[in-house]
Amino acid sequence: MIRGMDTYLETERLTLRRFTADDADLLIELDSDPAVMRYLTGGEATAPEIVREGHLPYIIAGYERWDGELGLFAAYERDGGAFIGWFCLRPETDGPREEAELGYRLRQSSWGRGYATEGSKALLHKGFTGLGVRLVWGETMTVNDGSRKVMEKLGMTLVGTLPTPPDMEQVEGSEHGGVRYELTKEQWAQR
Ligand SMILES: CC(C)(COP(=O)(O)OP(=O)(O)OC[C@H]1O[C@@H](n2cnc3c(N)ncnc32)[C@H](O)[C@@H]1OP(=O)(O)O)[C@@H](O)C(=O)NCCC(=O)NCCS
Repeated sequence: MIRGMDTYLETERLTLRRFTADDADLLIELDSDPAVMRYLTGGEATAPEIVREGHLPYIIAGYERWDGELGLFAAYERDGGAFIGWFCLRPETDGPREEAELGYRLRQSSWGRGYATEGSKALLHKGFTGLGVRLVWGETMTVNDGSRKVMEKLGMTLVGTLPTPPDMEQVEGSEHGGVRYELTKEQWAQR
């Protein structure tokens, strides 16, 4: 276990914790792998100053906004303590707290081991049973098979298609647009 870690959630193999202001390098490194960024930017890394001045402050402000209950969380392997990426369960900035977006971005070295499914399942359970969440949604590119497969394994339902945002037109497969999945608390309870 990593000492002093501000644990948010534990699963069989993973620990999720809140990010701190010292974590910029973790995010910068994660977003510097073209394979990780393939369906997000077309492979381009996120500029370090965007992480330091934009993403990380927004993540930390989210813990204030949602009382540390919802947001974006760093994930580690319990066995060995390696950082594997992040998960999020968070509302829109000024949206209703009962509706939260599920997301995940994992390091390539941790793909294919069921981690995205395991972490997401635990987040759904926590959100629906302990945090007052009533609807979870997720959006991804139509061609992002891995992300879609995770949402399908979680029992989420394809509810519609989405136009590609203008800033994602350079991404491979963008001509196919995006997809939106949803899961209500009632659907989840009947899984
Ligand atoms: C998408 C991502 C989170 C999947 O993580 P993961 O931990 O490898 O996923 P899991 O191991 O839980 O896999 C769940 C299922 O999806 C399948 N899968 C995973 N990646 C896949 C891929 N690239 N193509 C097809 N199927 C895939 C797995 O085989 C598994 O199915 P199975 O149980 O029938 O074998 C990971 O690849 C990632 O972080 N990618 C980069 C960031 C990204 O695209 N995030 C989503 C943006 S919307």
